[in-house]
Amino acid sequence: VLDENGRIARLVGKTEFSPADRAHYFKTVNIYRFSRRFSREHLVPHLGRYIIEHGSAAFYEEVLQALIGTGEAPLTALDVGHRRWYEIDDAQDLDIAETLFAPDDERPGRLARRFGGYWRFSQVIDFAYLVSPFFPPPRLLDEMAADLHQLASGYPSGQDVQRFLISRLFGCQPRLVLVGNGASELIRALLAECSGPLVVVRPTFEEYPRLVGPQQLIELPARGPNLDYGAADLLALCRTARPAALVLVNPDNPSGHLLPPSELTSLVAELDQLGVRLVLDESFVDFIDGSMDHTLLRDDVLARHRNLVVIRSLGKSYGVPGLRLGVLASADAELLRQVEARLPIWNVNSVAEAFLQRVAAYRAEYESACQQVVAERACLLAQLDGIPWLRPMPSAANFILCELAAGLSAQGLARYLLKEASILVKDCSGKPGLDAGQFVRLAVRDASDNARLIHALATFQPAVASTVARSQAARE
Ligand SMILES: Cc1ncc(COP(=O)(O)O)c(C=O)c1O
Repeated sequence: VLDENGRIARLVGKTEFSPADRAHYFKTVNIYRFSRRFSREHLVPHLGRYIIEHGSAAFYEEVLQALIGTGEAPLTALDVGHRRWYEIDDAQDLDIAETLFAPDDERPGRLARRFGGYWRFSQVIDFAYLVSPFFPPPRLLDEMAADLHQLASGYPSGQDVQRFLISRLFGCQPRLVLVGNGASELIRALLAECSGPLVVVRPTFEEYPRLVGPQQLIELPARGPNLDYGAADLLALCRTARPAALVLVNPDNPSGHLLPPSELTSLVAELDQLGVRLVLDESFVDFIDGSMDHTLLRDDVLARHRNLVVIRSLGKSYGVPGLRLGVLASADAELLRQVEARLPIWNVNSVAEAFLQRVAAYRAEYESACQQVVAERACLLAQLDGIPWLRPMPSAANFILCELAAGLSAQGLARYLLKEASILVKDCSGKPGLDAGQFVRLAVRDASDNARLIHALATFQPAVASTVARSQAARE
């Protein structure tokens, strides 16, 4: 606690500390500068007495607190503000600090290779992962937090209860769905059951091609500046290649490309006739226009087309990737049985189960959250459009893929944004299907974060101009 002159009025000890109020505390960096006189006359004698009375396994702050209490120690604090610092007590701290203080050119890569856990890096604004910032409402999380002790100390339910809970959310029959520890778990189990060639669009969510390997893959390269493809292209390829399954992420990731829902229903029917399974990943479907009307995860559609398998991650649109929740839906009972047999008995944890128990009551808030994403996407797109060296693509999802002007590097931009604005973006260098240019993918966040992104991008322009000028001068 500081007084108005920056003097330490009180140190809050471990026993008084309330984790819920963490944001309101200063944290000591534990670097002190004491005068020789203060050390000799006050600190060392106090320390000596303290060790005799309480032993040496205490924090220095306890002694300093006692000194402050006597008024003998007018200690002044230096607030380090937003400067980076980290206290290293153990190997985990060291691991975090090594990323935090890595050279500028290594930091984006080091963060990306952690695949998440970014709450450890409180300054980082995550534009790389694709999570709605408008859901869940704090009240829903508060309800879950109130039950945390019980949830952590009890086993979660098995699959039958989880599928019942999720069926209420999607208004479908429980026997048509499976719940996964994230969509990724279900994708892995599903693909293990899909033998035979698999058609994928490139670029797409890499987990699908990665899990089957190159010999099983047939690729449809997206075309033109906006990475386009239509139902006719997919169908033509399936007619000639006769794959076991077609994987379609709609809206697609990273392009944001949308195959209009009207084309989808006839595509699934035609594939049914060809005997080709359609694995439709709808993880971003509620962001199309913020309405809940476009999903094919419906009893009637699934019953009509046993070749349809719908996959959805709940992490993105429900804003809870840390809970790990995904759903797989199909009327192919045999396939569901095989996929379920590949899942661990308690694959969904208790906190995620508690979320499923409650979230159906927040339908109106969910719809409004998706509509907010749609509105923010339009604003962000318009602002990105004003940046001359960046070409944002139209998107039906909660992210925007942008191509950089010739001569600029996506890696360079990602480094710049992290260094100058603590903004983490997805550098798409090396992503199959995006080899012909330089691309970054930007998540749609709330208005204030988006404004920070736009501001940081605007400052990149002078940086670009001066780099170009310097290299020109060097040539001359
Ligand atoms: C299209 C798509 N499907 C599935 C996933 C994985 O979702 P989850 O986090 O639920 O495992 C992602 C993650 O980015 C994705 O983009």
